[in-house]
Amino acid sequence: MPELDSPQRQAPDSLMLTGFWYRALPADRVHRNQLHKAMLLEIPLVIGRDRAGRPFALRDACPHRGMPLHCGQFDGENVECSYHGWTFDAHNGQCQLIPSLTADQNLKVDRIYAGSYPCEEQDGFVWVYIPDPSPQGAGFAKPEEAPEPAPQIEKFGEASSGKYKLAYLTADMPVSIDHGIIGLMDPAHGPFVHQAWWWRSRHSIHEKQKNFEPIPNGFRMSAHTPSSNSAPYKLLRLYAAADSITTTIDFVLPNLRRETIRAGKYWFSSLTTVTPITRNQCRIDVVAAWNLFRWLPFGSDLLKFVFAKFVEQDRRTMELQAEGLQHNPHLMLIDDADRPAKWYFQLKDAHLEAKRTGGEMKHPMTGPVTLKWRS
Ligand code: FES
Ligand SMILES: [Fe+2]
Repeated sequence: MPELDSPQRQAPDSLMLTGFWYRALPADRVHRNQLHKAMLLEIPLVIGRDRAGRPFALRDACPHRGMPLHCGQFDGENVECSYHGWTFDAHNGQCQLIPSLTADQNLKVDRIYAGSYPCEEQDGFVWVYIPDPSPQGAGFAKPEEAPEPAPQIEKFGEASSGKYKLAYLTADMPVSIDHGIIGLMDPAHGPFVHQAWWWRSRHSIHEKQKNFEPIPNGFRMSAHTPSSNSAPYKLLRLYAAADSITTTIDFVLPNLRRETIRAGKYWFSSLTTVTPITRNQCRIDVVAAWNLFRWLPFGSDLLKFVFAKFVEQDRRTMELQAEGLQHNPHLMLIDDADRPAKWYFQLKDAHLEAKRTGGEMKHPMTGPVTLKWRS
């Protein structure tokens, strides 16, 4: 077994995974008949909403001579490039018009495409599907279809009747996707990074034991423990007996962290993503849905306050970490506290290997595992 007690050196390779949905922009920042810039996996995008409110995503480069399309005009249906006025369907990128063509020139305009991407709005965010790079050059191909819809936040009970609240937080992190993700799943930084007089101090550090199990493309931490430090947990204890509270935290490739807390008929559910923007930059988006505090005016503000504080502490930490990472120091991951980070790298490797061979993905975990650490 390679998992000895000695620290294992590991440098994140910051490879960005294609073939997945990614959060591009908060939906409330994308307005009808306007064009917005965004970047995902080093791909420049222009995001907008058509007249009917449906979002779309195009590559932010005109297939003619590369002018950014966000500089152009949008009439609610087609995007017109600001350089020579070529016009493209906002949803599939198909060229509609080349103004310079004379009546006797029969260039097949409809065979020209601006790059376009599957785009969906889900739980307050505009998501974009980034396909595997296609062999043919961009600009002359129809968009690829996404194999499945964008990820959703799990909701419970009367959720179908819309009786829940939804809120988001977002923060840019000047580190690679890998550092962003392992920072997100790292249990040992809590007592040092997330201190607050109303929350906990570093002296509250104690031994913990958690059970993990493999799930498709990821792993699950299942817990029924009242000693959890997760953010909404202490608030939930006001609502239900500690032993009726159950929490689950899942990590699923490429970048999804789902946390579910249930206490009787009350629930809190979040979907956090770390999105690769460039090789050295990622963004964390936390979207939470819950049905507790619904009727209390300050409830959602309180939750937002707690989360904003946490996210800002993480952001600041990664900003400082980026300084240390600038000159490629040797890094290590230790057991058990960094085991989830190791699983992340192993999952990523297994995913890429399966893609390369066309075979089934070989999950790095063979069964349930108990991890222990102090935090
Ligand atoms: S560069 Fe866009 S129309 Fe020429
Ligand atoms: Fe954190």
